Amino acid sequence: MPYTAAEAVLSRRDFPALEHRGQGPELAYLDGPGGSQVPNAVIEAMRDVYSTCNVNTHGNFPPSREIDRRMARAREVLAVFLGAADGGCISFGQNMTTLNFSLSAAIARSLTPGDEILITQLDHEANRGPWARLRDHGAVIKEVRLMPGGVLDPEDMAAKITARTKLLALGASSNALGTVNDLALARRLTRAVGALLVVDAVHYAPHFPVDVQALGADFVLCSAYKFYGPHVGVLYSAPGALARLSTDRLSTQDPEAPYRIETGTLNHAAIAGVVAAIEYLAHWGHGANLRERIVDAMTGIAAYEHGLAEYFHSAVAALPGVKVWGPDFSGRARAPTVSITLVASTPAEAAAWLGERGICVWNGNFYAARAVEILGLADRGGLLRTGVSLYSTRAELDRLLEGLADIAV
Ligand SMILES: Cc1ncc(COP(=O)(O)O)c(C=O)c1O
Repeated sequence: MPYTAAEAVLSRRDFPALEHRGQGPELAYLDGPGGSQVPNAVIEAMRDVYSTCNVNTHGNFPPSREIDRRMARAREVLAVFLGAADGGCISFGQNMTTLNFSLSAAIARSLTPGDEILITQLDHEANRGPWARLRDHGAVIKEVRLMPGGVLDPEDMAAKITARTKLLALGASSNALGTVNDLALARRLTRAVGALLVVDAVHYAPHFPVDVQALGADFVLCSAYKFYGPHVGVLYSAPGALARLSTDRLSTQDPEAPYRIETGTLNHAAIAGVVAAIEYLAHWGHGANLRERIVDAMTGIAAYEHGLAEYFHSAVAALPGVKVWGPDFSGRARAPTVSITLVASTPAEAAAWLGERGICVWNGNFYAARAVEILGLADRGGLLRTGVSLYSTRAELDRLLEGLADIAV
């Protein structure tokens, strides 16, 4: 069953935040790249943990055994979602940024002065800052060039990966421009020199099926609040990859993967919510097992979102006074995120004007500050970004287009 506009409308019943409340205009959440709303099933799963097993793990009494069971299952479900071998590859944390700082601190201990770390001009700061600080450990930091069209320069990437490269940190997809990066090229180039590949899949995981084993990355990070779950960070480590690292952890912490990089007590209720979010996504697909249902659902959602974003992209590009940034939709490899600038309003003015009319879109650099700087937009307030989610509709985009037509020139 393909995921169509009818399913998108149906899905809206599942998200209490999308209910029309009060007198004002209905809210159109077109800020998927900033974060998604959660379905009732996620709220219920969190409530259930607080109601039945809100205790610490590894105790010798029934609710503690139950939370142990749920945590183990959560790792298995995340492994299925990401296409990992098993739950032993899945670590949890506060958010993606915190996990990436933990990872970079551990990798720092394996560096020798002069080792090279490659980051990109397109990535969110969460996949630049933790790596750029390895400069303090004697690493040489290089950046892959962002081309004016919003795509990373493949020749520059190839030229900058050398025998000294220890790691490439690369986003799967840009939260600012919707670009989907060439991960196969990145894996080929890094493998040839024995460098680690760290992939930020935060903006990719909500929009495409993920297969970390096919990708062959050493580490992949994502964040559940972008795919209809609560605020939880997830780190996939390839089998054996975490064991080689000297992580920051208490002497009392289990030194085995996946616990090796986790610190303190995890947010059990939120992690139960992540499981519910994945099961919610899977219920839109068909298949003999959870993995098949997830891949089927995400393939359908990807096609629906692509069509919606492509519609918006061509309609907004045709408005006088609008400039669209980033790659077009001629290829399938495009996240459903469209950023623009307007002749007559700054991105902040436009977002505030639209916000008053119940249209939620973000303005600024979205922490992809380097990309916005490279595009020459840092002093002009950055970009105005629209991102669609599985519950977005064409009617919402038409409301946005009407609003933009009023303020673009
Ligand atoms: C592409 C991308 N990477 C990383 C992050 C950081 O994720 P977190 O908020 O979980 O630290 C974000 C958040 O917006 C993002 O969009």
